[in-house]
Amino acid sequence: MKNTQWTSSQLKQSFLDFWKSKGHTIIRNASLLPENDPSALFTSAGMHPLVSYLMGTPHESGNTKLANIQRCLRTGDIEEVGVTRRHLTFFEMAGNWSLNDYFKKEAINWSFEYLTSKEWLGLDPARLYATVFRGDDDASKDEDSIQIWKDVFNTVGIGANVVDLPEDSDTIEHISCYSKKENWWGPVSKTGPCGPDTEIFYDTGAQHDPAFGKYCHPNCDCGRFIEIWNNVFMEFFKNDAGQYEKAPLKNVDTGLGIERVILILQYKDNDGNVDKRLTIFSTDLFESLSKILVNYFFDNTLTQPLDIYLSEKNIPEPDQIAIKVIIEHTRAAAMVLSEHIEPSNKDRGYVLRRLLRRAMRNMMKLADTYAPTKKQKLDELLGTLLEDIITQYGNEYPELTKEKEAILSLAHTEFKKFEQALQRGSTLFMNTIPEKLNGELAFDLYQSYGFPFELTQEMAAERGITISTVDFEKAKQLHQEVSRKGMEKKFAGGLGDKSPQSVMYHTLTHLLHKSLRDIFGQDIHQQGSNITPERLRFDINIKERLTDEQIKEVENRINGWIAEKLPVTRDEVSAEEADRRGALAFFSEKYGSTVTVYTIGSPDSPVSIERCMGPHVTNTGDIQGTFKITKQEKIGANLLRIKGQLV
Ligand code: GLY
Repeated sequence: MKNTQWTSSQLKQSFLDFWKSKGHTIIRNASLLPENDPSALFTSAGMHPLVSYLMGTPHESGNTKLANIQRCLRTGDIEEVGVTRRHLTFFEMAGNWSLNDYFKKEAINWSFEYLTSKEWLGLDPARLYATVFRGDDDASKDEDSIQIWKDVFNTVGIGANVVDLPEDSDTIEHISCYSKKENWWGPVSKTGPCGPDTEIFYDTGAQHDPAFGKYCHPNCDCGRFIEIWNNVFMEFFKNDAGQYEKAPLKNVDTGLGIERVILILQYKDNDGNVDKRLTIFSTDLFESLSKILVNYFFDNTLTQPLDIYLSEKNIPEPDQIAIKVIIEHTRAAAMVLSEHIEPSNKDRGYVLRRLLRRAMRNMMKLADTYAPTKKQKLDELLGTLLEDIITQYGNEYPELTKEKEAILSLAHTEFKKFEQALQRGSTLFMNTIPEKLNGELAFDLYQSYGFPFELTQEMAAERGITISTVDFEKAKQLHQEVSRKGMEKKFAGGLGDKSPQSVMYHTLTHLLHKSLRDIFGQDIHQQGSNITPERLRFDINIKERLTDEQIKEVENRINGWIAEKLPVTRDEVSAEEADRRGALAFFSEKYGSTVTVYTIGSPDSPVSIERCMGPHVTNTGDIQGTFKITKQEKIGANLLRIKGQLV
């Protein structure tokens, strides 16, 4: 029943080939950790690493048309994973960008061509539905896009009508208007480029489920329509005051979900319908992970699509969801682990911990029911899944292969910690008087011990006590509100700060990196950085804190390089050439093209050479002051955070 003519790798390649044929430069797939965007924990969209270009910095390729496949992580909908047919935390977003080059007409026409042309994806145009921005006090209705869509549908003989209130309409039209909630994108941070968007949906032909509303429409959640592509027209800039200004540049930013499109390509029947039971978990992306789990828990060889197997075996829905959560979260966790993040109770480490523990908890739950004799071996299962992910994605994301040992060992340690936490949490729970078994305690257990809420609820129920989800959510929201305020304060510096002070710190980061590698050897690498006009912060995989002598040594080297007044030069070279020159890279390259390299010192015997987007000073002599390490902090077993300042 699966169409074998499309694999997910072919889809990715075809997307890039299409945009190349339209004059686009294929750019690298950037790290999951946003560089120099302290307001975000992970790269959450294809445009995220491109913000500075969307704000006017010329791209180093010299081209104003770009495209790539970008790995992204969003955890806002983590509870929806496995519940709907389309939600994921980690996903691969295919995108094309116009940097003040083409605009609505070309973007829409090309999207339509890629999706429908027999030469490309060949989807039936009658199955495609567009949504556009309805207009409000900030921005007017997107009449241009409406007209373009009408013309485009006309070229294939479809007379597309427009519906203004699709939720209340008993007819489904090819063009539907929605509010900002549905048809506006960005900014990715607090301020930045943003604008109305037009989304493209595929009609899977499924029967509408009235539980989701009286009428079906593209944004209805019943699962009939699947959003596959978003074209954002960045005509606006949201400023500090929260106002939408007309942007000086007119950019296009798009995002096409690889997982969703491959679901359609692999499972549409001759009429274009996609069986309602099928989800992204039945695509080739998750096939080998599904096989491992079906074999482990159900002692069966998977020969059907996962969703069909689970449904025909009458596996209860919560257990079907559990299987998918394990698949999805282990994949996402492997990707995060490959970026040198370790599970912790803070920021990125906490997201990772949550992903791993949700996967582990679901493994334990399934083992209770389906494989009690294997319950002691679940950490081995986790290892098997991770190894499979590393094999499957290792070519595309080489850091997975490179970090294999660390990924497996960190996951194993986290598994053991989780088991201990479950034990400790259980003791705390048992010692708590019944009156105190409430939402607050559940949140406390969740927050301090990584104790899943459902487990607390189950255990309370065993003692005849109900803990309501609402109370738990209230305690959680209170906590989130407090930490959000903390974050806003912490990140008030904002994005894309190019003050002279920050630029100096940027160059100092390279010098710090180099001096540490001189002292500790070439196996250590920068793991993250954050710059404000007041200081730099730098994370590196060093196990022990620096001794006083080492601090002195680092400072002396850096201040020596400042005194030497070394030139800092910027070059654009191919990724291969950058490697040949030995340029360090915080980012990895996949679809490598031209990269920017900063060299400090003479090109024949440089002090430092790194791939980086800058900006930097042009001479180390421009750095005003003396560099001092002001603080160091261990933030992981193998991760040291250093703060430094110019005094
Ligand atoms: N940046 C476009 C999207 O995420 O849909």
